[in-house]
Amino acid sequence: MKIDVVSIFPEYFDVTKLSILGKAITDGILEVSVHDLRDATEDKHRSVDDTPYGGGPGMVMMAEPWGKTLDAIIKPSSVLVVPTPSGQLLTQSMLQNLSRSSHLVFACGRYEGIDQRVFDYYRSRCSLLEVSLGDYVVAGGEVATLVMLEGVSRLLPGVVGNPDSITEDSFGQDLEGLLEWPVYTKPQEWRGFQVPEVLLSGNHAEIAKWRRQQSETKTRQSRPDLG
Ligand code: 6GU
Repeated sequence: MKIDVVSIFPEYFDVTKLSILGKAITDGILEVSVHDLRDATEDKHRSVDDTPYGGGPGMVMMAEPWGKTLDAIIKPSSVLVVPTPSGQLLTQSMLQNLSRSSHLVFACGRYEGIDQRVFDYYRSRCSLLEVSLGDYVVAGGEVATLVMLEGVSRLLPGVVGNPDSITEDSFGQDLEGLLEWPVYTKPQEWRGFQVPEVLLSGNHAEIAKWRRQQSETKTRQSRPDLG
């Protein structure tokens, strides 16, 4: 998979060399290119924003730096992902769909947002997806893009060693929308706390039943909306 990221803070993406994303890249499964939006400016100050028509606080990202940058990147088969608190809520099934694309382009906005005409223009030239992390506000699209990069890369075939560790996740297929059960490793006793007896029993049916019950209890407590 090829991923292009456009941002005024390309250094945000230095972390893509770490952990699971880094492995996907060194294994040749994923190629990530980061573009500095300011490289598409021509004035001395490398300006990317201006005041909003209609007035009001904050600044709006100008269309032309985006147009110049995206024209060189976007193909009809690309999915243009725009992180914004006014987008659709990010879900695991959205990540699964994204992981089946061959080319993702992330457009990281800052300030009050990007001139609407950028979306009007590219909507007819590729797929466009506006995505929100949740009902709260962070300063820009970079952190949301990192969330999606990590979420997508671990779904690419060959990135995670054991594919069962994906299907058993919370929001993976096996748990049918329930949250994960608690997990334990050695030693058997830690600061007076014991590993639950059933996990030492070797009885796989009982273990599966216990885990299922734990998942249901956890889901009821943490996320009653998922029940
Ligand atoms: Cl995608 N961007 C920003 N700036 N804030 C958010 C968000 C995205 N999702 C939730 N809050």
